[in-house]
Amino acid sequence: MFTQPLPVLRRDGNALIILDQTLLPWRVVERRLVALDDVAEAISTMRVRGAPLIGCAAAFGVAVTLTAGSADDAALDHALAVLRATRPTAVNLAWALNRMDMRLRPLPFPMRREAAWAEAEAIFAEDAAMCAAIGAHGLGVLRALRSRAGRALRVMTHCNAGWLATAGMGTALAPVYAGCADGLEVEVFVSETRPRNQGLLTAWELAAAGVKHMLIADNAAGLLLMRGEADAVIVGADRIAANGDTANKVGTYLKALAAHAAGVPFYVAAPVSTFDPGTACGEAIPVEERAAEELFFVDGLDGQGCPGRLRLAPEGSCAVNPAFDVTPAALVSGFITERGVFGVEELDDFLQGIQA
Ligand code: MRU
Repeated sequence: MFTQPLPVLRRDGNALIILDQTLLPWRVVERRLVALDDVAEAISTMRVRGAPLIGCAAAFGVAVTLTAGSADDAALDHALAVLRATRPTAVNLAWALNRMDMRLRPLPFPMRREAAWAEAEAIFAEDAAMCAAIGAHGLGVLRALRSRAGRALRVMTHCNAGWLATAGMGTALAPVYAGCADGLEVEVFVSETRPRNQGLLTAWELAAAGVKHMLIADNAAGLLLMRGEADAVIVGADRIAANGDTANKVGTYLKALAAHAAGVPFYVAAPVSTFDPGTACGEAIPVEERAAEELFFVDGLDGQGCPGRLRLAPEGSCAVNPAFDVTPAALVSGFITERGVFGVEELDDFLQGIQA
């Protein structure tokens, strides 16, 4: 079983400890969250990020809140509403909060606190198991592609859908980690993922795991795919609508278009909690708009190795900053889930199965 090299979330008494991802890959710093506002701030500022992980963090946030104060219906409603509003696109957040609501609401108030911690721990453990199963199913996909490639397999990914984004080994990176553990030669093209540069988190993860990877500018993906330098694209997802349209980090759609044009398979790796049967199609997925400042500044290390922030855009610049885009189902070659790998034409059966 894959063990995360550092715990991304953990309970410590009545507090939630998180690995602060806004400081990675330069500094490894944990933060202690003891109140609802702390957890909401950590999710909305992306100290914790990645669809499955923000679902887990929100679940723990309910436990933190009910432990710090009242556990009555008003407190529960308030915690659910505040956490639900932190990030709109990743449906895992609403999925986890709905599950907490269903588990806690019928209980007498004094029993809700420990039940909340237990349910959050269960969501976390289940997510880790889902990641492992996604890795095992995705490994089958990689093995089939490897036999055609005739050299080390090259996978392109976008954003960070590795262990930092989940409770386990990740979603899009799970097949890569499973492949490496199984002796498969696999290399990864990692796109920077402007403006928040989550690709640097992916590069950091892969370097630590000894996986060969090449960082690329986001705009280099089209050329590399056209030249046949990548054998597959695998990305994670924040919400998959009932028709298979897939929201993921902005820039995913352009990779899907380029992969389609080049005849390169494009896979979406995601757990059941990312599928949203209640959203009919991509147009109905809420796309998070984030602050323009994210485009104006860049974080990094200075010449002395000290972390710092640089202004990139001139004062007075304007920007729009949609954090996600939506890839139409027609561009998705297959979904890699904990229940297996399937194409869009089998999505209805899959959705019926998860709702049963
Ligand atoms: O804005 P982020 O960093 O939370 O966005 C993350 C992504 O888009 C990931 O690809 C997605 O959540 C899947 S994570 C397993």
